[in-house]
Amino acid sequence: MSRLPESRLVVVSNRLPLGDNPSGGLVVALEDALRSSGGVWVGFSGDVVDDPSDSLQDHPGAAFQRMSFDLTPQEHDEYYLGYSNSILWPLCHGRPSLMQIRPEYLDGYARANARIAQMLLPHLRPGDRIWVQDYHLFPLAKELRALGVTAPIGHFLHIPFPGPADCGALPNPAELFDWLSYYDLLGFQTERDLGAFAESARQLADGDFVSDNLFQLSGRKVRAQVFPIGIDAAAFMAEAAEAPDEDRMRSLTQAKMMIGVDRLDYSKGIPQRFRAYQLLLEKIPDLHEKISFLQIAPPTRGAVDAYQDIREETEHLAGRINGQFATLNWTPIRFIHRPFPRPVLAGLYRQARIGLVTPLADGMNLVAKEYVAAQDPTDPGVLILSRFAGAAETMTEALIINPHDPHDLAVAMAQAMRMSQPERRDRHAALLEGVQTHDVAWWSRTYLEALGR
Ligand code: ADP
Ligand code: G6P
Repeated sequence: MSRLPESRLVVVSNRLPLGDNPSGGLVVALEDALRSSGGVWVGFSGDVVDDPSDSLQDHPGAAFQRMSFDLTPQEHDEYYLGYSNSILWPLCHGRPSLMQIRPEYLDGYARANARIAQMLLPHLRPGDRIWVQDYHLFPLAKELRALGVTAPIGHFLHIPFPGPADCGALPNPAELFDWLSYYDLLGFQTERDLGAFAESARQLADGDFVSDNLFQLSGRKVRAQVFPIGIDAAAFMAEAAEAPDEDRMRSLTQAKMMIGVDRLDYSKGIPQRFRAYQLLLEKIPDLHEKISFLQIAPPTRGAVDAYQDIREETEHLAGRINGQFATLNWTPIRFIHRPFPRPVLAGLYRQARIGLVTPLADGMNLVAKEYVAAQDPTDPGVLILSRFAGAAETMTEALIINPHDPHDLAVAMAQAMRMSQPERRDRHAALLEGVQTHDVAWWSRTYLEALGR
């Protein structure tokens, strides 16, 4: 008897994985489901053009169908840089004072979502399941429902959900919950985010749980659950173990390496970690020439003022620390602004004695999981992890720190430098087990099962 085809999965995200060999964790996670169901991934092409087509463009070359749309300069400004990254991003990361509220941002965001829904409509088929990713596309379900789409539609929020005080700083808090009420399933990274969603919806939109996972919102019922995202652990472990020697960073001194890998974003706590490192070098001169800090941070969203500010601040701090402590054969901080291929990153993680993940707020933080997966289990490094990363909810064997407290962070750096091998192995084994069990395939499977219910 032939198997019925799985219901087709349609993924919609702002960023479309393009390139000949898209290999991000999310792509790997969804590839099987997309391929086996004849599915399609729809997203922004990355091209900003004056007169974009109103039809989706096909991108052959992946194991599943990819279709893209272009944005006009005005949409890019109002929808992507504006409402998404100058209102929602700072708000969801606990920085409402960085919001740039302009009425045209909200209008542009709503219009872009309506246009994306229009472009998607002719490609939808009976039996599809639609999975919307992240904060750029909150209104999409409402727009699709208005066009008559009855398919199950789920949303997954990769970033934190704001509590009632921050939510109240939005220009349109009630509308946010109205948008969310049109989904069948809302996925969050952590219990904290689910709790913040429930509390904000209670206070600002009169919503509430009616049963275990079922939430009543604007007269509709929506399932709300936690699905902590993982990485493609097996692939990362293999890449790190196979990283060729020439890809590994060699130091002229015997310094142990401390590594940070982040987009250059104000949510990542990069100035805070630089200041903590400065304090460490001031307080423990014995560590001079014994520790070297590699910070890889490609700039992102450079047209937004707050991102220009963080670049200047971090460059200034790195320069000051090097000026204060460098010797003829030791550079305390190397600050690199470009992205690296994943196998090179994996090799660098493996060589680093300390992995520094110190965001002030973060949905999950995949770098924490990648660092753990990349370690040599017989002589692993130490993960220093902010209590404000979603990952801290489960990665409790890391050295958990408060990134706002330079003393706390400097103490953790010193502790990691002298931690015994048995203790490093014990902590790493426990962390690795979690990273392997709750990998990205587990995440997408669990989410899609819940959406299918
Ligand atoms: P965010 O999604 O906020 O950027 P995450 O830590 O969750 O933060 O995910 C970042 C992803 O981007 C990770 O998979 C990481 O390996 C990758 N990444 C970050 N910086 C670089 C870089 N310089 N080169 C290549 N990949 C990078
Ligand atoms: C975070 C967001 C993603 C976003 C990514 C890169 O991970 O959750 O939705 O794609 O940052 O940001 P960018 O603005 O370059 O897409």
